[in-house]
Amino acid sequence: MDGFDLVVRGGTVVTGTDVFRADVGVSGGKIAAIGLNLQGAQAIDAGGLLVLPGGVDTHCHIEQLQEGGGADEESWTTGSTSCFAGGTTSVVTFSTQFKGCGILEPLAEYRRRAARGMVDYGFHQIITDASDEVIWQQIPEVVAAGVRSLKVFLTYDALALDDRGYIRVLAAARRAGALVTVHCENYAAIGWRTEALLAAGHTAPKYHAWSRPRMIEREATSRAIALAEMVDQPIQIFHVSCSEVAAEIAQARHRGLKVWGETCPQYFVLTAEHMDRPGFEGAKFMCSPAPRHAPDQQALWEDIRRGTLDVISSDHSGWCYDGSRGKRASGSAANFRDIPNGVPGLAARLPIIFSEGVAKGRIDLPQFARLIAGNPAKLFGLQSKGSIAPGFDADLVLWDPAKKTVLDNSHMQHAIDYTPYEGLEVTGWPVATIRRGEVVMRDGRVQAEPGSGRYLARGSYDMIRSTGVLPDGFDAAAFA
Ligand code: URP
Ligand code: ZN
Ligand code: ZN
Repeated sequence: MDGFDLVVRGGTVVTGTDVFRADVGVSGGKIAAIGLNLQGAQAIDAGGLLVLPGGVDTHCHIEQLQEGGGADEESWTTGSTSCFAGGTTSVVTFSTQFKGCGILEPLAEYRRRAARGMVDYGFHQIITDASDEVIWQQIPEVVAAGVRSLKVFLTYDALALDDRGYIRVLAAARRAGALVTVHCENYAAIGWRTEALLAAGHTAPKYHAWSRPRMIEREATSRAIALAEMVDQPIQIFHVSCSEVAAEIAQARHRGLKVWGETCPQYFVLTAEHMDRPGFEGAKFMCSPAPRHAPDQQALWEDIRRGTLDVISSDHSGWCYDGSRGKRASGSAANFRDIPNGVPGLAARLPIIFSEGVAKGRIDLPQFARLIAGNPAKLFGLQSKGSIAPGFDADLVLWDPAKKTVLDNSHMQHAIDYTPYEGLEVTGWPVATIRRGEVVMRDGRVQAEPGSGRYLARGSYDMIRSTGVLPDGFDAAAFA
């Protein structure tokens, strides 16, 4: 067979189930054939390299709108560059809601901004205010526009929904046919411990972890699952930090519930001890839930191996360390409550998980492909993404499995002035990234036209349909 636009020749193709030597033929931006001796107008030599599906990062914050105007410090162009540098070709990011306001205007503004990027993109819709108008009119409208997942926070002053608000969002999602993703930490418990810590003079970054211990993540996860079970609404638990939280998900799945779990690279390579670095350095590692301890990291790999946690996202957060809006904006003596949460990691995600997972023998190549591409694409209805198979978008990463790299911020190619992974040695590195058949990164050089990213409108799909099992057989979501 010949006549392809591009042939990726002689690599070892990794799918979610198999690893085999083959050429990949690309036409019109799609994978057209996988076979031997394919011919095309252009060829790229993948000899000695793995050919992986382009990374799909379904939880990252890029140019997210902020209350009072503006956005976080990672723009769509810098964020796209960082994605391509690290082998990611699709993202799902967040359109916001500010309490007391609707969701349509911020979504329109966010779409305008996202259209400047190069990475393919979809959105989750954050719901912070479950007003009647949002619940009954606006959620159906944004879902119809292809935003087929809602995000709920059970903590954070500006974002938290109470249980009633969360139930209303679950019910709205069930009616509209959307997935709900949940940030699970107990808001009241964090507030109580934070006040006590500050009163005792415990203000340094390390006390961020003390303010939100693991049982408050477990409690919120258990509650989030029980309420989703009551409504019969599928959910994904975001950024699971430790095994006792994963156990809640495992039990739910055992009961037949549609509950999925995501974790992030930071929970495998950062610990609470990082937040205890001298001076203010610890702020660089502050995210929520907080990184735990070394034994937790080992246990989390077991949850990955068992399949309880089946998606690894970056939870990339676009805040610098220095500068007027960064982690140090309130000074180096700021108390932990006033330091922006979150760590950057778009470009670090695949290298860290490959290195800690595949290179260290904890997972095999197909599982890696599923965790970083196939599973998130399926769960979030990105139907043309995440797999190397005819008909899928030709999103590919050529990967050197043996290359060793000591990470520093220049590798990240983001707008953020630090990486929490500085000094971490990884084995395995992206050599080239191909987005819809176009080579957008080669040997670290990113070249792509701003505005060339495509909006990924997501239609309905079976995986997130409710199960039909309701308490007493009564469907309250039909009424309230
Ligand atoms: O600390 C974190 N994770 N920041 C990003 C926002 C969120 O909670 O996902
Ligand atoms: Zn979160
Ligand atoms: Zn997040």
